[in-house]
Formats: sequence, structure tokens, C-alpha cells
Amino acid sequence: MPGVKIVSVGRGIPDRKVSNYELEKYIDTNDDWISSRTGIKNRFVSTGESTLDLAYKASLDAIKRAEISNDSIDLIIVATVTPDKFTPSVACMLQAKLGLQDKSIMAFDINAACTGFIYALKIADQLIKGNQSKCALVLGAEVLSKVTNWNDRSTCVLFGDGAGAAILKESKENNLLCNIAYSKPDEEGFLNIDAITINNLFYKSEGKSYITMNGREVFKFAVSHIRDAIFEVVHKTGVSLDEIKYFVPHQANYRIIKNVACELNIDINRFFVNIHEYANTSSASIPIALSEMCEKGLLSNGDYILLVGFGGGLTWGASLIKWEN
Ligand code: ACO
Repeated sequence: MPGVKIVSVGRGIPDRKVSNYELEKYIDTNDDWISSRTGIKNRFVSTGESTLDLAYKASLDAIKRAEISNDSIDLIIVATVTPDKFTPSVACMLQAKLGLQDKSIMAFDINAACTGFIYALKIADQLIKGNQSKCALVLGAEVLSKVTNWNDRSTCVLFGDGAGAAILKESKENNLLCNIAYSKPDEEGFLNIDAITINNLFYKSEGKSYITMNGREVFKFAVSHIRDAIFEVVHKTGVSLDEIKYFVPHQANYRIIKNVACELNIDINRFFVNIHEYANTSSASIPIALSEMCEKGLLSNGDYILLVGFGGGLTWGASLIKWEN
């Protein structure tokens, strides 16, 4: 069976940065409340960029860093909860934008909310190992400002827009050591976005096409499931907590990350955090973090990096990478 290697990562971010101080002008909130409860100082907000636009920008960045031509891509998976259309998928539109319209490849979107990138990695890993693909483009891409209720200060300050991409290639050595991905139904409705309402000849339903959340319950779910996912990966691979150079968690809230670090007795500095700059970008947060880590020169060959996500569904999952670049 072939191995799988992440050969590059990239990101696509909207041009417009919005600080907490700027939000104070529009919303009854303040920098102290937001930053002390979440760690967020800034976020980027689309001024017209679509999910496809951000995904395209992130893809070009990753493709350039991988030093490959668009032609070599034979699989595109986009994790998103904010696609531009129900159909075609962002992945199919991206295929065209990358000039691959005449190539018969597999391209599709998945929705596992903020765990989407971890799910997409697991799917791509299996497709490569099953000889269905040799070079996959895997993304998390979101324009969450489309589904943000700007009249609800308890949620609108938490989210941002952005995309992250990774190129995965078949390789002799396997660097994607372990992928776990799980779900359990969110029967209490802790995290919700209604997609579309029925409005036909016979029935009209009400729906809220924006994010609603029970923050405290999500907080508890996140801490326990991140902790358990990390333990499971360590147990499955035999790579110890001490051997892992960096933990790259979904960036939802700095206090969640701090709680996990405290529970596991791991130095918080081994958790990569950039939530102060981007806020919560859902499925895009982990690949954006990875691309920043690369740019900052934090990743060296042979490093063990553990990615861990959680989100709506409810979903959670983790991936252990041995970095080789
Ligand atoms: N600015 C100022 N005050 C605010 C704001 C705001 N933006 N939002 C709420 N408040 C007020 C409330 O009105 C309330 O006031 P009151 O006590 O006078 O009624 C007070 O602040 C406390 O509100 P809570 O909602 O109870 O605040 P809490 O301390 O629980 O913090 C938070 C909310 C930050 C969302 C917290 O629950 C949390 O960290 N949850 C984790 C979930 C999370 O991060 N989700 C992100 C998305 S989900 C995902 O990525 C999977």
C-alpha cells in the first residue's frame, strides 16, 4: 500500500481585517469582553470574496509551494459549511478555476463543520492509499460572515472568513500516521445553522439561516473530546505526548485550548494559536494555522504534529503527521 505525504500548505484570506475596536462601532460589545473570553483580537471579513474565491487563493498558494502544476491534481475535496451554492459544489467550481475542466477527476464538498479539514484529510488519505488518487488538493474554506447573525453579539464576534489548503501526494514513506474522525448527533441543538426553509404550494416553514450556539455546552464538549482524541492518537500510534512537537487545535477559543493544555499537563506554548488574528474560521482554521507555522519556520523534518478538531454535528477528530518537506 502506498504512503501519503503532505507536501505543502497554503491559505487564502479576505483583504479586510476587522479589529474588536472596529466592531465596537457597530455592535454593543467591547475588546475586553471579546479578548478575555475568547482570545480573539481581529478577524477577516469578506467584502465580496466568495468561498470559491478564498479556496482558489489558498489552492494557488499551496500549489506554488508544492512546485507542482495544476495538472497533477486528480482529487479535490473542500470541507465547508458555507458553500456558495448547493450545486455545483465549491470543489467542482474550483476544478474549473484551476483549469482542470477537461480532466476527469473526482471533486466534491463535505460538511463536518469545524472538524471538516480532519475528515477531508482522512478521506483523501484513504483514496490515495486505495490507489484512487496520486495527488489530492484538500481544503477547508469558509465565508462564515454569510451565516453570522450580526444582531447577536454573543456569536457574531466569534467568527471570521478564510480558507486553507493542503496538497497530499502518494509517497513511499507514510507521513500521515493516524486519522480518527467521529460524530454523535447534536440532539440538544448546541450548534446549528438552518440551511433552507420549505416554501412550497403546501407548506411554509420557519428557519434561522445563521449560527446559533450554546456556548457553554460547546465549551465542555470541546475540552473533553479534544483531550480524548489526543489520547486515542497517542495510544494508537505509540508516539508519546512528549514526542509531539506541536498540537494544532481548531481555533475556536483560546480558553478551550488552555483548558486542554492544563488537563494534559502540556506546556501551552506547544499548542499553536492564531485565534487572536483570524477568530474562528471553522473548517479553515487548522490548514490556515499549518500554513502560518510553515511560513514562520516552526516545522522541521521529522517533527510530529498533532491536528485536532471539533465542531457541529457534533463531530471531532485528529490526525498525526510526521512532517517531511
Ligand atoms: N460583548 C459584550 N457582552 C456580551 C457579548 C459581547 N460580544 N456577548 C455576550 N455578552 C454578555 C451577555 O449578554 C451576558 O450578559 P449578562 O450576564 O448581563 O446577561 C454576559 O456577557 C455573559 O454571556 P455568556 O453567553 O454567558 O458568556 P460566556 O461567559 O459563556 O462566554 C462564550 C460566551 C465566549 C461563547 C463561551 O461560552 C465560550 O467560550 N464557549 C465556547 C464555544 C465556542 O467558542 N464556540 C465557537 C464556535 S463553535 C465551534 O467552533 C465548534
